[in-house]
Amino acid sequence: MSKLALHGGDPAGEALEVPNWPQSTEQSKANVLDAVESGAWCRSYDDAEWVDRFEESFGAYHDATHAIGVANGTVAIELALRMLDVQPGDEVLVPPYTFIATASAVTSVGAVPRFVDVDPRTYNVDADAITDAITDRTVGVIGVHIAGYPMDFDALLPVVREHDLFLIEDAAHAQGTEWNGRKVGAIGDVGTFSFQESKALAGGEGGMVVTDDAVLADRGELLCNIGRRSNSVYHHYELASNCRMTEFQGAVLCAQLEKLPEENERRRENERLLRSEIDAIDGIKTKPDDERITARGYCLFDLQYDSDAFGGLSRDRFLEALTAEQIPASTGYAMPMYEQPAFSRSRVAALVPPEATVPRYRHLHLPGVEQVTRRNVSLTHTVLLTDETGIQSIGTAIRKIQSNVDSLLD
Ligand SMILES: Cc1ncc(COP(=O)(O)O)c(C=O)c1O
Repeated sequence: MSKLALHGGDPAGEALEVPNWPQSTEQSKANVLDAVESGAWCRSYDDAEWVDRFEESFGAYHDATHAIGVANGTVAIELALRMLDVQPGDEVLVPPYTFIATASAVTSVGAVPRFVDVDPRTYNVDADAITDAITDRTVGVIGVHIAGYPMDFDALLPVVREHDLFLIEDAAHAQGTEWNGRKVGAIGDVGTFSFQESKALAGGEGGMVVTDDAVLADRGELLCNIGRRSNSVYHHYELASNCRMTEFQGAVLCAQLEKLPEENERRRENERLLRSEIDAIDGIKTKPDDERITARGYCLFDLQYDSDAFGGLSRDRFLEALTAEQIPASTGYAMPMYEQPAFSRSRVAALVPPEATVPRYRHLHLPGVEQVTRRNVSLTHTVLLTDETGIQSIGTAIRKIQSNVDSLLD
């Protein structure tokens, strides 16, 4: 039995070559140079073309009729809420297993985020929990395709339609994810993406809002552009902010999008290989392999660790041993969002109308998310870009830890 790297043995993951991220191409450099030299750096000017081009190609790739490029994924959610006319004091249901922007965007329009539990098998918002949380102030739901694994639309859409709620898809992690043959984003009312540099489609910063609804899209374009139509220089029809994407972002993203489908295909093949490596390991679970997921986008690849199958070894100690084996892994979101200091009742109350009912966030206990935050182990999407030997070494490292577990428990 080989010695753990933590105890001086050779790391099992030596063969795992994880590419640096983001990766530029000759095309991305050429596009950015073109944008720089064009002299049109802001999309508001007539000569600007890169953000237009990116909106067109991303919208087509993601099966959405309308796509609006914005500065980042946080602004994208805020814009989506404004497009849907969310008012101060309204309640929006959000999952507690996510990046803070999903929930903080709600407070940015003076509305109240209410956390509903996730399904611990998928980490995504649970339709039954939504049904139970609806009040007469609830106007909509923001679901998140965590790690690129899509939410269950078959369960969610009937609930939101029956209660006349909107569904925003926070698809920050899901560039390329498909549900029953259709890319996510515009399956709900409005979808939002992030192109921050860690994402599989990386533009440094950047975001997109997509929808199939022409009225919402028209409003989105207006609200994205400080209340004006693009060529009406000082005519403003709404009080709104400036959410625009720059031409440089548009230029780099046009090129990055070209390589995304092939990279996702490679990740998918490596995901299959990884599943075959680790599904047989007692105490390591992957998310269900659901045939309705016809293509996967990836931000992360999540595993669930059960310490009972590792002699009671804590998840954090397991992670320490795994990283020592040169398998880069992390806890992912380490606490339910309602435990974040930012979500004290008084902080949220200061941002919403006095008559709004603000939950006692600190008193919440939602078992699904608490299981996930205790047990999750995340690999980044870049790990899935390695070769077969690299992927096999992940299984080898986990098995090695399991068979040496006694030496970690002493
Ligand atoms: C689920 C989710 N939503 C929204 C965002 C916000 O995106 P950005 O960082 O581009 O503002 C992120 C960013 O990581 C995210 O992970």
